[in-house]
Amino acid sequence: MKNTGDHTTFNVDSIRKDFPILNREVNGKPLIYFDNAATSQTPQQVIDVIVDYYSNYNANIHRGVHTLSQEATDLYEDARLKIQRHINAKHSYETILTSGTTHGINLVANGFTTLLKKGDEVIVSALEHHSNIVPWQMLCERTGATLKVIPMNAKGELILNDYDALLSENTKLVFVNHISNALGTINPIAQMIEKAHQVGAAVLIDGAQSCPHIKPDVQALDVDFYVASAHKMCGPTGVGLLYGKEAWLEKLPPYQGGGEMIDQVTFEETTYAGLPHKFEAGTPNICGGIAFGAAVDYMNAIGFDAISAYEHELLDYATEQLTHIEGLKIYGTAEEKTSVISFNIDGIHPYDIGTILDKLGIAVRTGHHCAQPIMDFFKIPGTVRASFAFYNTKAEIDTLVEGVKKAKMMLS
Ligand code: ALA
Repeated sequence: MKNTGDHTTFNVDSIRKDFPILNREVNGKPLIYFDNAATSQTPQQVIDVIVDYYSNYNANIHRGVHTLSQEATDLYEDARLKIQRHINAKHSYETILTSGTTHGINLVANGFTTLLKKGDEVIVSALEHHSNIVPWQMLCERTGATLKVIPMNAKGELILNDYDALLSENTKLVFVNHISNALGTINPIAQMIEKAHQVGAAVLIDGAQSCPHIKPDVQALDVDFYVASAHKMCGPTGVGLLYGKEAWLEKLPPYQGGGEMIDQVTFEETTYAGLPHKFEAGTPNICGGIAFGAAVDYMNAIGFDAISAYEHELLDYATEQLTHIEGLKIYGTAEEKTSVISFNIDGIHPYDIGTILDKLGIAVRTGHHCAQPIMDFFKIPGTVRASFAFYNTKAEIDTLVEGVKKAKMMLS
């Protein structure tokens, strides 16, 4: 089974050959895919694993004595080990396979229902995606806890002095993303986790946007919960990871009841399976999990240091080029940011720019990016967002810049 990239030195031309979709045309133009923050593209190495699974190993896992079931189980559990090693979790059973970041957050938020009470406080940041706001609001509604918000400055950076002031012995939980999906800001999570722990609060890091760029080390971070999605890092949709420290996962009740998550069931009483199965009710996304493992292998074979360095080059280049366009304003100018550029042009709706770019074969996201509080902060309805991956090129950025100029001319 071929499942790793062969990229000992970073070479974007050779990397691009791994992604069949990059050969297609959109509206008669070569596809330029700059919507990587929404979902990344899938390399042939991962596609092969998906085809291989359904061609040769498709069976339900943890359930059968038959050969196919055992082979599928081995592949799935092997993927869990790859993910465990990738995030440097201490134990494989601290890695729960979920349907994605949103699922992981909801699982934890639901679990805290019995652990919070009126008077407790939970802290979120102004930079969050709706999926790291709404589940906690729902938790507060259920428990009477209060939601506090770390504000941000005009560059899109969190104001850490205000964070310090919000932390108190009432703080039970802090949940913050590692990287903002709308602005690309990289938050100082190590420092934020340390401060939360000083008041005894647990921390959940939403790694949905950082997992394609930064290899997390959950033990070094000493983070309590970390969530991410496979499809942001060259894997398939519908699968993700929740890391939780063993002590926390033992403390939280199961999220869903069903098969697989039980020890013994009678009509009088049910006892639950141990970790990780307690949180994995129902038939999981078996193929997705295995392909997630392959995606982790693929990205590690290229190397996160090389990926991040190259993407920074793209970010600097695109920022420089776009800044020359009169009337264009970039939202999110943090000192520490990743390869995401959100922008608007005076007097033009982002949707109209996105539509013209699409006619030119360029895929960007437009709108509020599921981060309405950020848009409200800047008093805008939305932005055009170009997000770059390690398989993008400066030549593609040149085409984007020309496209934006053309859109500006047509719409002004
Ligand atoms: N959260 C994804 C994005 O930022 C969908 O586009």
